[in-house]
Amino acid sequence: MRGAVRWGRRLAIGVAGLMGLMLVSGGSASDAHRIEWTWAEKKREAERPKEPLLPPLPTLPPTFERPKTDCRKLRCVALTFDDGPGPDTERLLDMLARAKAKATFFVIGLNAAQYPDVLLRVAEEGHEVGNHTQKHLQLTSEPDKAVDRELDATNRAIKSVLGFPPTLFRPPYGATDKRVERHARDDGMAVILWSVDTNDWENRDSGVVARRAVKGLRRGSIILMHDIHPTSVDAVPRILEAARRKGLTLASVSDVLAASEGVKKPKPGKKYLGR
Ligand code: NI
Repeated sequence: MRGAVRWGRRLAIGVAGLMGLMLVSGGSASDAHRIEWTWAEKKREAERPKEPLLPPLPTLPPTFERPKTDCRKLRCVALTFDDGPGPDTERLLDMLARAKAKATFFVIGLNAAQYPDVLLRVAEEGHEVGNHTQKHLQLTSEPDKAVDRELDATNRAIKSVLGFPPTLFRPPYGATDKRVERHARDDGMAVILWSVDTNDWENRDSGVVARRAVKGLRRGSIILMHDIHPTSVDAVPRILEAARRKGLTLASVSDVLAASEGVKKPKPGKKYLGR
């Protein structure tokens, strides 16, 4: 009996609500019809078989190999871009493609997941991809568990797009120690720092950024930049042009180190700074 009373009350509230809605919206029979039609649509929508929310991620073919630059013959320098991919990365890729230049992208796992097709394009066009953690944490002050999580999650994000995990790692803020390097080694990654810092995150002036990078252009140097800043991307054509004039080839970090360190590939857990 109490149940029936409750239902009666609900019905009354429902009818009053519908009338109120009709009143607010002008109150005609056609409005009521429209409301019913929407309900019917919603029901049909709910009954429709569910499609997957996202299309499957694009990936590289399993046979893909990054084209190598022979830096023992050429005079190579490494441009590196951290913290992306982001909205300006494709514009940067266009610039690099026009100059036939190769670079290295140390990506944030969360950004890789947000821009999988950009990350795919980075690799497809022959650039190298490295791990720059999932959330840009300063790993030297994080417990082991967090370091593991940061490295693993980013490697998974990269692998889900490229089909293979990266072999290079750049710690955020360059904050590394023996413990962080051990974690990198366990995950098969060399620790890559830099020899030229453009400080482009601090100075958002493409002229200043270009000048600092150009000053550091020499065989074997590793130049630090960030492709999340439009001003840094704006500086790139001047850097590419200066490198061309100096007879330098822009190559990936692994190819640059292959010549300057005489290694086939950078050793997992070892720290490299460039010249
Ligand atoms: Ni960073």
